[in-house]
Amino acid sequence: MRTQVGIVGGGPAGLILSHLLHLRGIESVIVEFRSRERLESEVRAGVLEQGTVDLLRETGVGERMDREGAVHEGIELRFNRQGHRIPLSDLAGGRIMLYGQHEVVKDLISARLDADAQILFEAEAVSLHDLESQKPTIRYRKDNEDHELRCDFVAGCDGYHGVCRSSIPDGARTEYERKYPFGWFGILAEAPRSSEELIYTLHERGFALISTRSPEIQRMYFQCDPEDDAENWSDEQIWEELQTRTETHDGWALNEGPIFEKGIVGMRSFIVEPMQYGRLYLAGDAAHIVTPTGAKGMNLAVRDVRTLVEALQAWYKKGQSDLLENYTNTCLRRAWKAQRFSWWMTSMLHRYPDDEGFQHNLQLAELEYVTSSRAAATSLAENYVGVAFDE
Ligand code: PHB
Repeated sequence: MRTQVGIVGGGPAGLILSHLLHLRGIESVIVEFRSRERLESEVRAGVLEQGTVDLLRETGVGERMDREGAVHEGIELRFNRQGHRIPLSDLAGGRIMLYGQHEVVKDLISARLDADAQILFEAEAVSLHDLESQKPTIRYRKDNEDHELRCDFVAGCDGYHGVCRSSIPDGARTEYERKYPFGWFGILAEAPRSSEELIYTLHERGFALISTRSPEIQRMYFQCDPEDDAENWSDEQIWEELQTRTETHDGWALNEGPIFEKGIVGMRSFIVEPMQYGRLYLAGDAAHIVTPTGAKGMNLAVRDVRTLVEALQAWYKKGQSDLLENYTNTCLRRAWKAQRFSWWMTSMLHRYPDDEGFQHNLQLAELEYVTSSRAAATSLAENYVGVAFDE
């Protein structure tokens, strides 16, 4: 098989890439090892920056998001048993949309299939070949048979564990990583909303986050031991932990309900340099992982993809290669900014196991500053809504 852009990975990065290329008359094929059902049901984060929302809308895949998503104009930081609102829109312009990443995935898959796109589900990319030539190849396995996809370019959108990043030879790539001594215990519960806006809270027992998916379904997280097993926790224990970490002086309490999904994710920051090699270009989690505390992951992937689409368009329509050559530079500068913000939010809001109190008091001082200084709050807001990453 032959195509112009061979895309490894059918998550948000790969799907948006395929969608945008199609709108510009560039053909692509997606090779994705998961089934459509699994892709559409994987629960991930759910905060879309204004720029991501605008892009989905402008390219015709924002209709259900506008109907079912919730627009938020602020977030709350809670500490010392008291809430403090950060008015994102007043401070930085722009708003955020709460809409699950797998809902975005569903909308994109259906738009791509309506346009007769080729998405090969349950097709496992095995290896990449001839990346330094004009005709790179993706070898993949589907239905117990080996296949080859020849293309002009390969887009590596296959996440942290995919084959694309490791196809850049060891000597040609540098990886930067930081692991954290905690994870996030995440739940989905059938319950009414407890708050109109997201609550990020630091408590002596650790971080907690109150988010939402719909008026009926709530998403919440609390900092935990990354080696723990979600099955060790009863619903009652989970609610008690969440209630304790979010309680306030004036008797605020979370609305509880049946928990129908729970799991633990580790916390890491990661960046690979360069993000390209020959005719291979990495986008999204294949190139960088940010901690979820800043809600940047999918938004950063969308920015990579936009940059890549512009560069590919310049190459196909005008024979211009400078944007492609600059891809790593453009994306990495931005990725480090997002990395810094995510790391900062993470550091400010989590208890560190070896901290005897010094760091916790610094965190509280930082939270007081951020919630009382307009300049500091504006800095958070610019990063949270994403204008800090605009070119
Ligand atoms: C979520 O709703 O899943 C969510 C929200 C904000 C974050 C991370 C995850 O920072």
